[in-house]
Formats: sequence, C-alpha cells, structure tokens
Amino acid sequence: MPQPIKVLCLHGWVQSGPTMSKKMGTVQKYLSKFAELHFPTGPVEYKAEADPNDEAEQKRLASMGADQGGKYGWFEVEDFKNTYECWDKSLQVINEYMKEKGPFDGIIGFSQGAGIGAMLAHLLQPGQPPNPYVQHPPLKFAVFIGGFRSEKPEFDHFYEPKLSLPNLHISGTADTLVPLARSKQLMERCENPNILLHPGMHVIPQQAIYKTGIRDFMYSVPISGEATKHPRDLTLIVAVSSPSLGIGKKNNMPWHIKEEMGYFANVTNSTNGIELAEGKSKIMNVVLMGRACYDSIPKKNRPLKERINVVITRTEKYNFGLTKKDKIPEHLYAADSIDAALDTLAEKYDNTDIQIGKVFVIGGSFLYGSALYHRLTKNILFTRIYHEYQCDSFFPFEPKDAAAWEKKSHAELEKFVGIPVHEGHLKAVGSKNEEVELEFELYGKDDVSHALSKLTV
Ligand SMILES: NC(=O)c1ccc[n+]([C@@H]2O[C@H](COP(=O)([O-])OP(=O)(O)OC[C@H]3O[C@@H](n4cnc5c(N)ncnc54)[C@H](OP(=O)(O)O)[C@@H]3O)[C@@H](O)[C@H]2O)c1
Repeated sequence: MPQPIKVLCLHGWVQSGPTMSKKMGTVQKYLSKFAELHFPTGPVEYKAEADPNDEAEQKRLASMGADQGGKYGWFEVEDFKNTYECWDKSLQVINEYMKEKGPFDGIIGFSQGAGIGAMLAHLLQPGQPPNPYVQHPPLKFAVFIGGFRSEKPEFDHFYEPKLSLPNLHISGTADTLVPLARSKQLMERCENPNILLHPGMHVIPQQAIYKTGIRDFMYSVPISGEATKHPRDLTLIVAVSSPSLGIGKKNNMPWHIKEEMGYFANVTNSTNGIELAEGKSKIMNVVLMGRACYDSIPKKNRPLKERINVVITRTEKYNFGLTKKDKIPEHLYAADSIDAALDTLAEKYDNTDIQIGKVFVIGGSFLYGSALYHRLTKNILFTRIYHEYQCDSFFPFEPKDAAAWEKKSHAELEKFVGIPVHEGHLKAVGSKNEEVELEFELYGKDDVSHALSKLTV
C-alpha cells in the first residue's frame, strides 16, 4: 500500500478537534478512505458561559458549531470579532502536534482553522526565512472552508508574497459569519485559487460534489509535492449523457455509439497541425487514464494503439492486468500522479525519434476530477449525448455554467483537433437501437484572475 495522504484538520471557533471530526460528518467518512485525517485542538478556550436564556447567542454559538466537545479556537475573539491574539501560541501548539504526528502533506481548515492554516502555510512556504513558531517541511496543499485573512495591517506580512501552494476554497454564498467577500480576500492572496461555492451558510457542506471535490483536489497534487519539470498542456476528452453528466456504469461505458467512438479515436490519434521537430521522425499523442478506466478496456483493445498510454495509479507494482510471463507492451507506462506521468514521458521519449504530441486525459471520473484541478489542464473536448443513460459515475460539473470555462466556436474546435467535425446535432443510433443526438464542443480555461473577478460577493 502506498503511504496515505496525511492531512491536518484545523477546527473553527468554539469547536475542538473531536467536534470538527464530528461536524465533518460524511465528508470525514468519505475522505478517510483516501487520506489519514488528524484533528488537533486549539489552545484558546472560550470561557464565557453563554446565557442559556439568550436565544440569539445560543443560536449564534450553535451556527459556529459549538457543542459538548469543548469550546476552543486559534485566536481570541471579542464581541464576535477576531482580535487575532494568541496566533503565535496557536502556531506553537500546531508545531508540537506536527512534530508528534507528522509530517503532514496538507491542511483542511474550517473558519478560524482556515485563518490560522493560511498563516501556517505561509510560514512554511519555500523561500521564507526561518521563524520561531513552526518547523516542518512545506505543505503540499491547503483547503480553506469558510476561510478568511486577517484584516489587520500588522498581519499583512502573512499574505505577502501570495500563497503559492495548490489551494482550494469552499465558501457558502449565504454565509453571514464569514461572508463570501471576506473569503474572497483570502482567495486573492493565493496563486491560482480553486473555488467551490455552495448555497449554504457557515458549514462544511456535505453533498457529494464537495467531498469528491476535496478528494480530487488532493489527488491533483503529486505525492512528492514536486510539480513536473516537463510541463505540457492537458486536454480532457469526455462523452457525457445529457443532462445528467453521467459517464459510466459499473466501471463500463453505458453506451456504444459508433460516431462517438470514432470521434474519440480520430481526435486522440490526430497529429495534424503539429510541426515535426528536428531530429524526430514521428509524432505520437498521449492518453492518460485512471487505473479503473484502463482495467475496464477489453484486453484485446489495450493499450490504445498508436498512442502512448499512461495509467495513473497509486497501486504499488501495478501490472496492467498482465501475468508474470507477459511482456509489458510498448508505449505503456504507469505513474502515480499527472506530474509524474509528464516526467515519465520526458524520460522515455526525449532522447528518441518520437515526438510527444497532445496529451489527453481520457477518464474516468476520478482522474477527470483531479485533472480539472491541475494547473496544466487548459481544454475540455466535451461530447454531449442527448439521451438519458443510467449511470453511476459522473463528470463533476457542467462546463457551460462554470465561471472558469469558456465555450469556443466550432471553427476553434476544428482548428484545435485538426480534423473536420460535424457542426450542431448529429443523429446517431446506439447499440440497443436507441436514437441519440451528439454534439461536439470545446471549452477553454479562463484566466484565473478573470474568473476571480467574476465572483460576485
Ligand atoms: N464517458 C466517458 O467519456 C468515459 C471515459 C473514460 C471512462 N469512463 C467511465 O468512467 C468509469 C471509471 O471511472 P472511475 O472514477 O471509477 O475511475 P478512474 O478515474 O478510471 O480510475 C480511478 C483510479 O485511478 C487512479 N487515479 C485516478 N486519479 C488519480 C490521480 N490523480 N493520482 C493518482 N491516482 C489516480 C486511482 O487508482 P489506484 O486506486 O490504483 O491508486 C483510482 O482509484 C467507468 O465506468 C468508465 O467506463 C467514461
């Protein structure tokens, strides 16, 4: 078994480690399958006894998550406002905890926990001078839920330079305790912020999209924490049942449509428009796929012909479903992250006559999810199948409704794929004689700062 991802979970005000673990509810249960979660308790105790007859105050405390597990935090609070006092003591407590239970790969901070988490991530950022509070290797990622930055000028240095580690912000549009405008101030002090909004208040949202969102985000970060030294743009190619966004059933394709398969094969094979570099005699495109996706391809069809296949898996000694006697076919590799896959491509092909063409992420839903958080993912080739197929795995979002993605014109799609593509709805028939219509689309990733400016608060 590979080492699990180790995550430090930092609770909010008037909570504790055990309360946060409880409040995370199904999110914690789900994430525990993929990561080892640790829940320290902050050193600042909420001592005031709330008047049991003061309904408004009781309600306010309950909305922050206070219950029987003890009421603690990471900063002092007066009149329901953070004074930020005790931040240094809190960092030292975290440091002791990390020494005992760490090292940690990343953090998930809720509310005040996100506030102290941002300070922690900043102090551990590569290039920062040594500090007397925390000594730990740099964190590889941070998830801020209902997060904020200190508005006090004396703390500005915690946000300068921007946080450069991969970061995900989950915020409620109806949050009145930490309004979205406050969370946005923290997002603005992070490089390439990934943002997931939910319609709720100051909570850790429990719906599947947020749980899988955190998992996918954590897996978008390489185990080593080192980004690839051989960056290449990534293009997702996916076919979805519209409007459910279903993509698979029982680890298989829910449909068999000749035109959809033909489009996938033609696009992933086409090297039209790519110039052959000096010293190279052939261009090959790459298909990156999740382990379940590779396992689901019939043996006779895998690896996919004429393309370099890389299976993304953290299963140690993954053997591609081969027996010990079988030889690993040419152009087939395994890598434990997208970044490691790009490094493998450079290592295997840089000194050969084969030139790497486009790099496609071909599924399934786990790999699509993590690739969507990857900074090198620039395009999605999206095939809509207007027919409702029963599915149990789904594409994470509708790109036409996503602020960060912009639909490209048909001419741009054809230029991008390098082959003629049917425009508008294409009538087709599935393997069970069902009549369907297909539509081929291209979405491009918007500039992150532009997407942030579109966030209305
Ligand atoms: N409609 C379409 O266009 C389309 C395309 C492809 C697939 N599909 C469907 O999708 C379904 C399969 O999806 P799935 O979500 O179950 O599986 P998947 O993404 O194919 O594979 C999941 C496994 O891949 C590995 N993995 C994925 N992302 C990773 C990452 N970032 N880093 C390290 N390892 C990573 C892990 O393997 P380990 O557990 O070994 O570590 C994970 O358990 C099937 O039904 C298939 O037919 C649909």
